[in-house]
Amino acid sequence: MLSKKMLNALNKQINKEMYSAYLYMSMSAHSQYQGLKGFANWFMVQYQEEMGHAMKIYDYINDQGERLTLKAISEPPAEFESPLDMFEKTLSHEKTVTKSINDLVGLAISEKDYATQIFLQWFVTEQIEEEGNDNDIISRLRLIGDNGNGLLMLDRELGARVYSPEAAPEK
Ligand code: FEO
Repeated sequence: MLSKKMLNALNKQINKEMYSAYLYMSMSAHSQYQGLKGFANWFMVQYQEEMGHAMKIYDYINDQGERLTLKAISEPPAEFESPLDMFEKTLSHEKTVTKSINDLVGLAISEKDYATQIFLQWFVTEQIEEEGNDNDIISRLRLIGDNGNGLLMLDRELGARVYSPEAAPEK
């Protein structure tokens, strides 16, 4: 059983995870168009991870015997200045998601909802991993600067990322 407040907040989080998926799908499409297939792969794996996050919450709400309400997903940006721009936007977006997860934990604590507190722990850890990965790639992109060879090497590396449902994000 979930309180009305908790249910509403979890429903909203599904929407945020779906928007995240949509945003990374857009970045994947942009990378593909730019000829950066490795970046396109990385963002498509990220899309799959975000859909997985949305489904985790979907299953949790159903397991609690509560009713889901799905809202419209906003349109993501389609144009990005560079790979660095995409990763800076990714990090900035993930920081808003981290805040949103922290707010959910705060609500679960104030509602004395122990089950949801435990459920959300996975997301708290996941956010640390995600921000870490983004920071790592941003640092490398800053080092690469205008070096085309460096960018192609990173592109090859990001092309090796594989989606793994329960695993933490790969570097
Ligand atoms: Fe669902 Fe990128 O956190």
